[in-house]
Amino acid sequence: MPSLTDQQSLATPAGQPHFHYRNGELYAEDVPLVWLAEQLSTPLYVYSKAALHSAWGSYTQAIKGHDVLVCYGMKANSNLAILQQFAKLGSGFDIVSGGELMRVMKAGGNPGKVVFSGVGKEVWEMELALNSGVKCFNVESVPELKRLSAVATRLGRTAPVSIRVNPDVDAQTHPYISTGLKENKFGIAIESALETYKLAKQLPGLNVVGVDCHIGSQITEVSPYLDALDKLLNLITTLTTEGIELHHLDLGGGLGIRYDDETPLAPGVLLDAVFEKLAQKGLKLQLVLEPGRSLVGNAGLLITEVQYLKHTDDKDFAIVDAGMNDLMRPALYEAWHGVLPIRPRMTQTHVYDVVGPVCESADWLARARALALEEGDLLAIESAGAYGFVMAGHYNSRPRAAEVLVDGKHWDVIRTRETFDDLIRGEALLDRV
Ligand code: LLP
Repeated sequence: MPSLTDQQSLATPAGQPHFHYRNGELYAEDVPLVWLAEQLSTPLYVYSKAALHSAWGSYTQAIKGHDVLVCYGMKANSNLAILQQFAKLGSGFDIVSGGELMRVMKAGGNPGKVVFSGVGKEVWEMELALNSGVKCFNVESVPELKRLSAVATRLGRTAPVSIRVNPDVDAQTHPYISTGLKENKFGIAIESALETYKLAKQLPGLNVVGVDCHIGSQITEVSPYLDALDKLLNLITTLTTEGIELHHLDLGGGLGIRYDDETPLAPGVLLDAVFEKLAQKGLKLQLVLEPGRSLVGNAGLLITEVQYLKHTDDKDFAIVDAGMNDLMRPALYEAWHGVLPIRPRMTQTHVYDVVGPVCESADWLARARALALEEGDLLAIESAGAYGFVMAGHYNSRPRAAEVLVDGKHWDVIRTRETFDDLIRGEALLDRV
């Protein structure tokens, strides 16, 4: 736990260098956060463009001339302006719904660089993806394969497919964000992969182009990836002997970030290890990656204002104006997010639970944090760029927060704060009561 009087150590505890203290207050790049909060109110999501670009750069540097397509796992943060940044940088996109595909196209992304994952693709989503010309469908079950074949045939199109294999490896992460174990709903068991590929070859309207897996999220070790890769490489060898040639290998997303004291797995470390294994096998496949969190997680903060300080016999609570409806990760996964005072006080600290106004005991953002606070103080919840706003909801009739993208000394509202009218849009009072 950094000392609150030491502003240097407070600057980037979660590894967010684009958010830093200057003259005793927290900035996003060159913009004082107090200033944004005053103008735009709170709760407020603030993203740094430089942080997005630097996260992207860590992938491009790691690629070192190899044939790698990075498809941003956009479920992590699908604001149009964020997608637009990645589209401009040449990113592809990993999507899991028709809605996400529409966002990609609205933001100027290239559908030819889109991979379509997800266990529950509906007919209309398949039609939209086929008509848009996506790069690949990551197929997760035999019934999905058959449905895709029927839809593509009806449209007179050919669907590029990759089978999402469940390699049954333990990603050593939170059980709710682990996806590559047998008991998870994702993918096709590796033992059944060969027969599924044979079926895919026979079915009309399909073109087999790849293999993929995604074993989980917030992974900080390279070994689960390499275990999964070994299994996929064995499968590829078997497929080749069966006359099934693939064009790409998709290892999914999942690289972790620093929330507290984790040591994240750098893209370069993962990719070097993967390139080495591919070279040993003499394989010249395109590599596809689907990183989400590692591209945006530490590029965002959630700014919130302290409403009340409530001291009870058991605990001290800082009741803030952001709740579990704004940032669900602590309630859902007991996730740890750093909490930074925007203007640190040099007074005595107390140990606070930072909680929201929602009527649920699960509505907390941080527990047992030493903070020197007064009502009206602003706090920044760190590492809120991924799975933050996208998981927000309206519970307790709370309008969703505004979002801002900072670029040097400039900033733009990339989503306005919702109003009461937004909350009730689509609802109707009855004439007959
Ligand atoms: N590809 C697929 C097929 C995925 O299911 C996911 C994430 C990704 C890529 C991107 O994974 P990432 O690089 O972001 O780890 N809401 C949770 C995380 C759920 C991840 C779901 N799938 C959280 O807040 O931790």
